[in-house]
This record gives sequence, C-alpha cells and structure tokens, in this order.
Amino acid sequence: MTRETWATRLGFILAAVGSAVGLGNIWRFPWITGQNGGSAFLAVYLGIVLLVGVPALVGMFVIGRRSKRNPVGALRELSGSNSWGLVGGFLVASSLVLISFYSVVGGWILRYLGESALGLATGSVGYFSNPGAAFASASFGLEAVVFHLLFLGLTALIIVAGIRGGIEVATKWMMPAIFLLLVGLGAWASTQAGASEAYAFYLGFDSQTLQNNFFGLLGPAAGQALFTLSLGVGTMITYASYLDEDRSLPFDGASVAVLNTVVGVLAGLVVFPLLFTLGIEPGETGTGAGALFVGLAGAFSQLPGGALIATAFFAVVALAALSSSISILEISVSFLVDEYGLERRRAAASVGALVAVTGSVCALESGVFGFVAGTLVDILLTAGLAACLVFVGWVMGRDALVEFRSGSGPVGRAVSTPWLFGVGVLIPTFLVFTLLTTFGVDGR
Ligand code: PHE
Ligand code: NA
Repeated sequence: MTRETWATRLGFILAAVGSAVGLGNIWRFPWITGQNGGSAFLAVYLGIVLLVGVPALVGMFVIGRRSKRNPVGALRELSGSNSWGLVGGFLVASSLVLISFYSVVGGWILRYLGESALGLATGSVGYFSNPGAAFASASFGLEAVVFHLLFLGLTALIIVAGIRGGIEVATKWMMPAIFLLLVGLGAWASTQAGASEAYAFYLGFDSQTLQNNFFGLLGPAAGQALFTLSLGVGTMITYASYLDEDRSLPFDGASVAVLNTVVGVLAGLVVFPLLFTLGIEPGETGTGAGALFVGLAGAFSQLPGGALIATAFFAVVALAALSSSISILEISVSFLVDEYGLERRRAAASVGALVAVTGSVCALESGVFGFVAGTLVDILLTAGLAACLVFVGWVMGRDALVEFRSGSGPVGRAVSTPWLFGVGVLIPTFLVFTLLTTFGVDGR
C-alpha cells in the first residue's frame, strides 16, 4: 500500500497551522502572558518564535519529508540506529501524554460551546466551581470524562477519514472559519469598556519588566513558543512525512509561524479586553489554568448579546482545539500504520482506546491534570525538541542541508549553513539553558 500524501501544498500548510493554532493560543497564551506581566513577555515570546521556532520547525519538516516516516521510523531509518528509534519512541509517548490532558480541555470547550449555543452560558461557570477557587479544587468528575470522550471521538473520526479526505479537508474549512470569527470577535471586543486598559497591558511596551526579569521570562516564553508551534512531540515530523513534492521547507516553516502568530495575537485582542472589562486581572486570577475560562464564561453571561458572542468564541476555541488534537493523535496512528502495518481505522481505534483511559485519569484527578498540563508537558517538549535538533545537526548533517535546499531558492541556499549551525548547536544549548532557568528561577 502506498503511503498517503497531501493533495496540495496549501493543504499541508493549513493542516500545520491548524496544529499550531490551538488551546495554546487561546487558553494558555493569555494565561501565561498575564502571569508574566503582559507586553514584556509578548516581546520575548515573539523573539523566540522567530529565532528558535522557525528554524526548529524547518528542522522537523526536514526530518519528516526526508524520511517519509512516523517519528520512530524516521529517526531510525535516517540514522540506521535503533537507539535513535527509541528517541522517536519517546516523542510518540510524549504525544500520548499531551493528548491525554489536551482532550480533557477540549471536552470542557465542547461543553461550553453546547451550553452557550443553548443559552445556558452561566451554567458553565459552576463547571469549574467558583471563580477564585484554586484550580486544584475545580470540579472535575464524570461529566468531564464524558466530554473528553466526545472530543476524543471527534478527533478519531477525522483521523479515520485519512490525510486528504480527513485532516486536509477538515483543516481547510476550519482555518478560515477561525480567522473570520476571531476578527469579528476582536472588533466587538474593541467596543468594550476595558479595551483600552487591555491594549495597554498587552501591547504597550514595558521596558522595565523586560530589563528586570529578562532571564525569568525566557523559560516560560520558550515553553509557550514550543507548545504553540507544536514542537517536541513529532507532530511536524509526521505532517511533513506526507509531503511528496519538493517545495521550499523554509518558506513553509515561516508561513506556519507567521499565521500562527497572527491568530495568537488576534486571540489576545479578544480575550484581554474581555477580562479587563470584567475587572479580572489576567495574571492575578491566581487560579491558573482554569481561571481564564471561569472568567470568560462568567464574562459572556454578563454582557448584552452574551450568548451569541459566547457561542462564536467557543466555536473558535473548539475548532482550534480539534485541528490540533488530530495532529497529536495522528503521530501514534502513523506509528502503528508504518511500523505494524495496521489499517488506519484499527490504529485510530487502538490509540483512541488507550487515550480514553489516560485522559479519564486526567479528567478525574485534578492533581494529575495540573502536573501534566503545567510542568510535565513543558519538560517533554523541550527535551524532545532538543533531541530532534541534535539529530538534524549531527546525525543528518549534510543530508539535512540537501533537504533544506531542495525546493528552496537562492535565499534558502544562502541561509542553509547558518541554519544547520543554529539547529545543531545554538538552539539545543538555548533549550537546555531555559530548562535550567525554569527550575532555578521559580523552582517548578
Ligand atoms: N500547538 C497546539 C496548541 O497551541 C498544541 C500542540 C502541541 C499540538 C504539540 C501538537 C503538538 O494548542
Ligand atoms: Na488547532
């Protein structure tokens, strides 16, 4: 059986953007930005996206297109060594950890969407218990399991329909829908009372925080950059493995990063005015991950026309989450299909059954959830990406240069050597450093 491929290059780019744009942009980004003081964090984050994210993204594309394999097969075939295959196995395992909590949050979103559409928006506030209560005591429970399973089921359905017929078709519709809805919501948010205060917090350049706390910002900013660009678990390797024609990978990588950043900044322009209008300090909610949605769900119900706005907003979040979760689940599906010759349908069912269980643990145990979503994923992504980049720089070496240049013009050729040095030496060093500062600075 021949391996599947994307029908068009745009299809690949939109699928990769779909993977990138997700809960990371809409849920995690405002939360982390708020925690770290707003605009100064935004500046550091954008710098890392450009200098670390884009080259790393291209590195993953290079591995994927060169090998045309899932992460395990890719690292093993390209190196001729089973040990590197194990590193690929680490990526696949990390992707399963990631999807286990991601799908739970996706489930919350489906619930919010359903409640908003039915005009029950206030009910969802209670879903996380009282705003202001510690997230650890939020009401998890059987309902969260049910919605997690629903979200996971939707994810698996798209995957079963295949690369072209499922992922590519779905993301081609989802991405423009997300963009248009966000533009509309951003325009509406600009009319709200807290808008100007929010813009000052979010976009005003705060050089003082930047100078005082530059090193403290690096860790969280790097973590956010990797998460939002879907780096470190093998998603971008897997998606690029379905490319056949040799077109410019640097161009594709830059496109994905730019589009993801546009959507991310846009999401902030929707979320921050809402929080400020309601007098919720994004960083001082003190309740971490869940607080943002507690605040938002409460916010909508207090505003005129709230139900409609809430429905549009949670539709955006649901589409963004779904287009990302398919990219996470596809990693292990491609692993089972490539390595064990499983049918796509069976592979999706097997992985789905496993994640049904691991996700339910996250849904029921808020302690597990908090650890996975807050700390573990950051570490796994950083370690996984550093290993992949060392692989590109030191194991692939010349082959990586060839693949980087293939299909890219004179500019691509000119930057290829500095790129290889960056991904092989500078960026892994930086990643290890941020991991250390994260532990050293705030003791996480
Ligand atoms: N980029 C996704 C988001 O922002 C999350 C993700 C991480 C997806 C890693 C795939 C791999 O929500
Ligand atoms: Na997405």
